[in-house]
Amino acid sequence: MSGRIAGLGERELVEFTFDGEQVSAWAGDSIAMALWAVGQQALRNSSSVGEPRGVLCNMGICYECLVVVDGATVRSCTTMVRSGMKVQRGGKL
Ligand code: FES
Repeated sequence: MSGRIAGLGERELVEFTFDGEQVSAWAGDSIAMALWAVGQQALRNSSSVGEPRGVLCNMGICYECLVVVDGATVRSCTTMVRSGMKVQRGGKL
């Protein structure tokens, strides 16, 4: 089941991978929201206790949503999807 809202207008579909799995998103989506839409909410584990972490503030402040994109750690809520990007769970500060 998709969390996307139908009828929001025509946008280009973008394909990328998340931990090796193919994901489709709309151009202009953040990585966080593209992953949320396909049910992927655990984006990394906390370094202290290992618990899953995901989107909290959704505006670039908390750093709970870190992922690795093509080898670089980024905030998934402020990074837009790009075709062909390789996103991995587990970003660290
Ligand atoms: S959810 Fe807080 S920085 Fe991304």
